[in-house]
Amino acid sequence: MCGIIGYVGARPCKELVLTGLEHLEYRGYDSAGLVLADAAGLERARAVGPVAALREAAAGLQGTATVGMGHTRWATHGGVEERNAHPFLSEDGRFAVLMNGIFENYVELRAEVAEHGHELSSDTDTEALVHLLEEAYDGDLAQTVRRLYPRLEGHFAFLAICLDEPDRIVGARLAWPPLVVGRGEGETFLASFTPAFLEETRSIQVVDEGEVVIATAAGVEFRAVDDWSVREHPVEQADESLEVAAKGGYETFMLKEIHEQPTAVADTIAERFHHGELHLDGIGLTDDELREINRVLVVGCGTALHAGLAGRYLIEEWAGVATEADVASEWRYRNGVFDPRTLVLAISQSGETADTLAAMQIAKERGARVVAITNIMGSAIARAADGVLYTRAGLEIGVAATKTFTSQVTLMTLLALHLGAVRGTLSPDEVASIGEELSALPELIQRELDDEAMDRQLDLLADRFAHDRFFLYLGRHLGLPICQEGALKLKEISYIPTDAYAAGEMKHGPIALLGEDTPVVAVATDSHVFEKMASNLEEVRARGAHVIAVATEGNTQIERHAEHVIRIPATRPELQPILAVVPLQILAYKIAGRLGLDVDRPRNLAKTVTVE
Ligand code: M6R
Repeated sequence: MCGIIGYVGARPCKELVLTGLEHLEYRGYDSAGLVLADAAGLERARAVGPVAALREAAAGLQGTATVGMGHTRWATHGGVEERNAHPFLSEDGRFAVLMNGIFENYVELRAEVAEHGHELSSDTDTEALVHLLEEAYDGDLAQTVRRLYPRLEGHFAFLAICLDEPDRIVGARLAWPPLVVGRGEGETFLASFTPAFLEETRSIQVVDEGEVVIATAAGVEFRAVDDWSVREHPVEQADESLEVAAKGGYETFMLKEIHEQPTAVADTIAERFHHGELHLDGIGLTDDELREINRVLVVGCGTALHAGLAGRYLIEEWAGVATEADVASEWRYRNGVFDPRTLVLAISQSGETADTLAAMQIAKERGARVVAITNIMGSAIARAADGVLYTRAGLEIGVAATKTFTSQVTLMTLLALHLGAVRGTLSPDEVASIGEELSALPELIQRELDDEAMDRQLDLLADRFAHDRFFLYLGRHLGLPICQEGALKLKEISYIPTDAYAAGEMKHGPIALLGEDTPVVAVATDSHVFEKMASNLEEVRARGAHVIAVATEGNTQIERHAEHVIRIPATRPELQPILAVVPLQILAYKIAGRLGLDVDRPRNLAKTVTVE
């Protein structure tokens, strides 16, 4: 989604703004822009494409300004065109505005400013604000922002500059789009996400929703929009490090993150399972409350939902609680029926996904208890929940989620065990024995990553199938969400259409897709549904399609049902998903590589989806 950075200080800031935007590139965007403010006026550059294109476009700017702001845009209102890139300037050239978010009443706002004679130069919602500021300005930018704030509907974080007060940037925030302040010596940064300025300062303050922030070189002031009272926010030390954002010798972030999975899973377990004992701090519900739960609803989007779908089987299996998992963007518009005994689990790597946040807020309003599972401390979803369980995967830069998925499934496994332990559906011995096997997974994932034979085999498969037009993924039980995740990985980075289906459903439609050469990827690890999977694979083979099966080491039957078998280490069936997804991630990665695609920045995708 959109990224923003602002700087006020003593240093010429063109380079600081451009570098800040480069640090936000990983979030996904389609165009970028910046504005620099000095006595001579506002200078702006914008470009479609990467920040490198903006660099070129900005080459001719003076570069002496010490106040400036920049933006990476992910198109929502208006196509990917330079004229729709932020920042926007007022016609008198005195005001500049940029925003992350959406003004939902933009039709009305645009009509109003057009009626007042302003010429709109873009198709965006944001541009309306710069004209409104110009009209409403009374000599005090912060107060003008405050007066306009109630007229802006939606969710946003925006920054504004006015040449009449060239020593400051004023910002405001509503709902979830984040806005963070970076405090330096005689300089202040503003950004949507801390990596934008972490190279310069790690001292941060978070702007709350409903606040106006006034940043100058000397410091920062936070004011409540409603009564204009001064708000105090502690200065915290940011813990994300830029070092983790470096590729560390890997050719892409995605590959690096695939290889970080042993550590991510180990860190997610860490002290939560130790010496045979399970502790799940942060869940926000007492053991008595957990015993009262009669239903679990998991909401999330994309990969996070797949982790929830895997967790559903485990909670039902070990804790005996009815569990559903649903797409957050659908669930939020259903008239979901539940009561205070329903536990809602909101899963989101970023903790900022708009639909997941909205779903959990609705659930809270209707009386449910909400626990968040996220990778980002202090994110909107973490703040809105009754309890938070953090995955400890470290910052994930690649748009295609990998290490956060295996960490989410790990955390769902711990949660299911915890519920089983608290509710007495699992004995302490069972918890200890499953916990031990879970703790062994990081080593087994490492074995997969070090397995040269598997790597060669995946290379051969990528060579053979990279140019196929369609892949079908088939699985049953816990294998199904892994197929869904494998299929999502392939489609999002290789742009090859994929479908993931419950193998038992194949006969009810998707079998029609199978042709002589269709590659069919099957998760057929050892479990109580293995025989059923084997029959489904026979049906596939009878249609001449090629079966690529992910199966458990030591299984002697699978060769009869599959043309290609990828062997993964054995563990108990409930834990197989975490191992089964790894070769599917690598297969997708290798296929995208054969097609010459940029896996870290797939087209049209953003790392964090903060719009509905
Ligand atoms: O940050 P979140 O986990 O809420 O994001 C949800 C999805 O947007 C995300 O998982 C997406 O599907 C990934 N690109 C998958 O690789």
